[in-house]
Amino acid sequence: MNIVILAAGQGKRMVSDLPKVLHPIAGKPLVGHVLDTARLLAPEKLIVVHGHGGKRVQQALSAADVQWAEQARQLGTGHALAQALPLLSDAGQTLVLYGDVPLTRLETLQQLLAAGREGLAILTVDLPDPTGYGRIVRNAAGEVTKIVEQKDASEAERAIREINTGIMAMPTARLADWLGQLKNDNAQGEYYLTDIVALAVAEGVPVRTAQPAADWEVLGVNSKVQLAELERCHQRNQAEALLVAGVRLADPARIDIRGRLQHGRDVSIDVGCVFEGEVSLGDGVEIGPYCVLKNVTVAAGTRLAAFCHCEDAVIGEQAVIGPYARLRPGAELAAEVHVGNFVEIKKSRLGRQSKANHLAYIGDAEIGERVNVGAGTITCNYDGVNKHKTIIEDDVFIGSDTQLVAPVTVGRGATLGAGTTLTKNAPPNALTVSRPRQLTLEGWQRPQKKSSDTP
Ligand code: UD1
Ligand code: CA
Repeated sequence: MNIVILAAGQGKRMVSDLPKVLHPIAGKPLVGHVLDTARLLAPEKLIVVHGHGGKRVQQALSAADVQWAEQARQLGTGHALAQALPLLSDAGQTLVLYGDVPLTRLETLQQLLAAGREGLAILTVDLPDPTGYGRIVRNAAGEVTKIVEQKDASEAERAIREINTGIMAMPTARLADWLGQLKNDNAQGEYYLTDIVALAVAEGVPVRTAQPAADWEVLGVNSKVQLAELERCHQRNQAEALLVAGVRLADPARIDIRGRLQHGRDVSIDVGCVFEGEVSLGDGVEIGPYCVLKNVTVAAGTRLAAFCHCEDAVIGEQAVIGPYARLRPGAELAAEVHVGNFVEIKKSRLGRQSKANHLAYIGDAEIGERVNVGAGTITCNYDGVNKHKTIIEDDVFIGSDTQLVAPVTVGRGATLGAGTTLTKNAPPNALTVSRPRQLTLEGWQRPQKKSSDTP
């Protein structure tokens, strides 16, 4: 089987310099969705017909399994498919998909291919308002005789509600002949792929139709309005799948998944959360409102309070994170760690039961178990040129407002007094403080306002 994805159209109504098929749904280009579904059918050839902004489309989607056919001028859907002809393997079926119709389900395409096993198959839907689409014309026996485009249709044909979605399966062996016979003597002066239907009928090739389970499967994107509508539709579908799988969503209309969200049992997600890339939530995980998680693994029983922002991070079991925690790439938190508000952690490991509850920056650090990082602690990991490591061993207590000037090590069981600027290693099991002794000046008085001072 061959799959050809037509993606040469410009998409003027997107009002954008980005080629239409690269506009994203759930963070992935429209045509990326089409390619992913196409791959599930394991085609022998997977071909994208590109035109407008072709270089950018090719760069964005470079993949070993995709072949490219250029359509330099957009002379119609029939002409577009003809550009792919030399790349097709001649046996079996050719499935035509559109690069701007992203949400068609695998099962629907399988049904279409089954319907077309002995000839040609068209994916159709009945629309209450069919304006703009090609109409499926049937004879008295209900057999398809042709497709007529809106602009070429008679009054009676325009009344037909069954429309051509554009998605078709056809016998590859007949394609070169049919496409060669197409003419552009129609209202738009284009080579219509849809005209092959009448050619097939004339040859006695069976023409069948299949229908998708839902209309959104065949909706295309021509404008930002439609892009936003399909985004919501896709997010609603994903949210419903999560609910069915047992995840509690405070509001299925207020969650965005731009990637893959894996989950255990009894996971609960509050409103306004965004999940990007690969996110995995263990059993009983609770995600508070307005959290953003990108490529994050959260182990069982952990709770994220509101407004956490986590990227490329791993969080252990029974941890308590946030509100307002920021975990940057390379943050690795062991079980039962607590990370509180306005704490930023980058490329650092925190051992079991360690806590950094308020206002801290921890970068390039290795922190042991049961460590308490006081409010306002900063690892000074950057000397302006290079990054250096801070090592804090088990059972350390770091007083508030401490600066650890890396590279530096705090020995096991050590205590750092509040306000310490640590520039040398702190020995284990001892109190290290760096600050001037506290002075109280006897007889000092506050300045008094002079009465003659008034301006
Ligand atoms: C097409 C169908 C119409 C169907 C409708 C569904 C034809 C003649 N008409 O109409 O029956 O109801 O889709 O949306 O096929 N493209 C190219 N090169 C071209 C022209 C189009 O690659 O020269 C691509 C576009 O990028 C798009 C797809 O083909 O992905 C459909 O093109 P579009 O112009 O939207 O087709 P319609 O005129 O809407
Ligand atoms: Ca269209």
